[in-house]
Amino acid sequence: MLTPTNARRHKIAAIPADGIGPEVIEAGLEVLEALQWRCNDLSFEVTRYDWGSTYYKKYGRMMPSDGLEQLRNYDAIYFGAVGAPDIPDHITLWGLRLPICQGFDQYANVRPTRILPGIPTPLRCKGVGDLDWVIVRENSEGEYSGHGGRAHRGLPEEVATEVAIFTRVGVTRIMRYAFQLAQARPRKLLTVVTKSNAQRHGMVMWDEIAEEVAPEFSDVTWDKVLVDAMTVRMTLHPESLDTIVATNLHADILSDLAGALAGSLGVAPTANIDPERRFPSMFEPIHGSAFDIAGKGIANPVATFWTACQMLEHLGEHDAAMRLMKAIELVCAAGIVTPDVGGNATTRIVTDAVIEAIRSSND
Ligand code: IPM
Ligand code: MG
Repeated sequence: MLTPTNARRHKIAAIPADGIGPEVIEAGLEVLEALQWRCNDLSFEVTRYDWGSTYYKKYGRMMPSDGLEQLRNYDAIYFGAVGAPDIPDHITLWGLRLPICQGFDQYANVRPTRILPGIPTPLRCKGVGDLDWVIVRENSEGEYSGHGGRAHRGLPEEVATEVAIFTRVGVTRIMRYAFQLAQARPRKLLTVVTKSNAQRHGMVMWDEIAEEVAPEFSDVTWDKVLVDAMTVRMTLHPESLDTIVATNLHADILSDLAGALAGSLGVAPTANIDPERRFPSMFEPIHGSAFDIAGKGIANPVATFWTACQMLEHLGEHDAAMRLMKAIELVCAAGIVTPDVGGNATTRIVTDAVIEAIRSSND
């Protein structure tokens, strides 16, 4: 077949990894193939990597020592999930996902949440449109810096420290990213989350840097909320929020709450972005490896499809991203959903329905 000269070809590294990761990533790759079929001149060159817990059991590491080198020249990384019941979580996490996020300086973790049509929310009297957020999670430092240590192991006087690191560079760049994102959204509304009443060093610096950056974005309305109060606001006044920025750990916790309020973690996507585009960015569902349902064919593929939308946006493929998002919404609205959101469809059925919706989508 002749390839048109203006073809847009994107090189994708797929790392399905553990648990339901392979099931949802295969579903996602099929959906990308359908988009390739539907959208003129769009194509993907996908390479699969077998890194993860099974690889660890064979080779004693989660990925090869030159793993980052192997990934460096891709346009994007499509990632499933890490974590296995018989390997400590900190080993799987620090062996694969975090080295990629930190090694490629993917400092902006972007987590959109919306109530999709057809997905029931636990929120009272709320529905589609009342919850439409993007959480921007600082993804390179803070509580996930890996600093600290343990001394006198096993003795009564054992001590362990877990040091959160906040740098002016790190906080300023995520704050700018969040203000920019808020500015690009219709409501131009940003909420900065900290805990600067109790944590009086790093968190106070966050507040100060928010004040400093805000004047660069005079059309953005912004406010500050403490993280504990934020859980109340998210639950009782979801419509008062739009774009949210928080530290690595705070946003980790808030994004689980956001996922639950939107119906299920099974629909929640995330993007680990290097905004400067020096390295490939990484796209994954939030839900994790979910070994309890692995191999049963009932994993919800929606989060993995939605993160593919984020990947397509990042690659500049806005038409394909929109087409995919519309297909997801159509299928959810038709009630073709997996058990975690109250349906009885399998991964296969949802995937086929999304593929069909893409193939028959209008111009
Ligand atoms: C997430 C996850 C991870 C995190 C886990 C798997 C370590 O909860 O992406 O939110 O805390 O970053
Ligand atoms: Mg989390």
